[in-house]
Amino acid sequence: MEPNVSTPSQIMHVAIVGAGIGGLTCTIACRRRNENLKVTVFERSAEVLPLGAGIHIPPNAGRVLAHLGLLEKVMKEGAGYQLDHFNLRRYENGHILAAKPVRERVTREYGAEWIATHRGDYQGVLLSEAKQLGAEIVTGAEVIDVEQSQSSRQVVALKDGRRFEADVVIGADGLWSSLREIVLGHPFSPTETGDLAYRGIFPRDKLLSLGNENINRIVEKLDIDVWLGPGKHAVFYPLRNKTEYNLILIVADDLAKGVKMAPSSLEEMVAYFNGWDPILDKWTKGPIALLGDATHPTLPYQGQGAAMAVEDGAVLGLLLAQSLEKGLPADPVEKRDYLAALLRLYQDLRKRRTETNVAGAVDTQHYYHLPDGEEQRQRDAELAVLAGDGWLGKCSFNWGDAEYQRSLLGFDVIADSKEKFEEWWVASQKAGANHGGF
Ligand SMILES: Cc1cc2nc3c(=O)[nH]c(=O)nc-3n(C[C@H](O)[C@H](O)[C@H](O)COP(=O)(O)OP(=O)(O)OC[C@H]3O[C@@H](n4cnc5c(N)ncnc54)[C@H](O)[C@@H]3O)c2cc1C
Ligand SMILES: *[C@@H]1O[C@H](CO)[C@@H](O)[C@H](O)[C@H]1NC(C)=O
Repeated sequence: MEPNVSTPSQIMHVAIVGAGIGGLTCTIACRRRNENLKVTVFERSAEVLPLGAGIHIPPNAGRVLAHLGLLEKVMKEGAGYQLDHFNLRRYENGHILAAKPVRERVTREYGAEWIATHRGDYQGVLLSEAKQLGAEIVTGAEVIDVEQSQSSRQVVALKDGRRFEADVVIGADGLWSSLREIVLGHPFSPTETGDLAYRGIFPRDKLLSLGNENINRIVEKLDIDVWLGPGKHAVFYPLRNKTEYNLILIVADDLAKGVKMAPSSLEEMVAYFNGWDPILDKWTKGPIALLGDATHPTLPYQGQGAAMAVEDGAVLGLLLAQSLEKGLPADPVEKRDYLAALLRLYQDLRKRRTETNVAGAVDTQHYYHLPDGEEQRQRDAELAVLAGDGWLGKCSFNWGDAEYQRSLLGFDVIADSKEKFEEWWVASQKAGANHGGF
């Protein structure tokens, strides 16, 4: 062993800002993998309350949860259930355009289940697991800045004046992220999508009291139903063992036909960084990374917002733990530079995949909201024949395209990151030998 490399007993301290789904998954991924990864989570709210409504755990995220030993708990304690069918319906009359079997297909196709659950229950399961694994959760803790200490560590500054030192800071503070602005060094609000969502939770009794035959039938199912209409769509699925139902109505701005990219914040974000050396813009501040909605907020139309945050968190935990196992540089400056380089690897691993999802959700918005006309008839005709191909065929609409779905849902982010980390480690050791470190 080289003398300047830490022994395995060395400790690394990770500060995670935000106890949302992404931040808590990252916490668990760190703690599960290595006891010496100390995690402190700073959450602005005075208490982590079971807020929200329905949320999806698609196979790519389900696989991560299974890997972290969380899936069963989410199913049992978090009222998770496997979806039976994903139905697309015509807005006017509810006629089914396509009924994609989910339960009997996804495990076979993508190697994991597709689960729906209540966001608050899901977050509750993650929170109790994080605590059980010895993570420190500090509530009522709003982070307002991150600085570097004299000793090349990161200092997390709270609004109430408290300060904490850490080796790595992860910004998991959601859509209106402060960490994003700290990293960028200027204000950067998410771009409005032009879509407006009305979310509601309806108790079962209330729906049954309407005395509508179609409603009575639909409440017994474990399906997700999406009604597609011009500039609008509606989403419905059960929660909490069919005692509650999630209903979302989404109303879009009237975009000109073919204008798909207008609502995306991605282009603007990319434009902002165009020509910038990532070393200059992001990493001069040291080892800070962003995850989840703080960095790649998405329209929720592929059910991937939380799933991508879960993937991010798991990848970060893996990279940090693997690094600790290999041994970190003992010199504080080298250690900081190593961690900053590691987080650039994290960015490389996540960038294309999360961008693809953001763009895919915008595409889904386009197809979901087609006005009645030629393109809508073409979409519906394509949907009508998908079942005939066993859902294995091509489709111009992501929802129905086998290859797109496979790359989105079948991707094994853990295996991929392990492999990429090893390659990177070997390459960086070689480079280090040539240039004297990171
Ligand atoms: C209250 C709430 C309800 C939601 N309900 C739904 C839902 O029903 N269905 C759905 O699909 N999606 C919902 N979402 C969105 C969904 O949870 C996210 O898209 C997804 O989980 C990825 O989130 P994230 O982990 O990146 O961040 P988030 O889940 O947004 O979590 C961010 C956390 O960071 C905290 N925070 C923010 N700023 C600071 C700061 N400066 N210092 C310390 N802490 C900070 C916030 O209080 C929050 O707990 C909800 C989000 C929230 C916050
Ligand atoms: C779900 O509801 C059914 C019907 O009311 C009940 O029999 C069952 O025990 C419930 N399951 C759980 C896990 O609560």
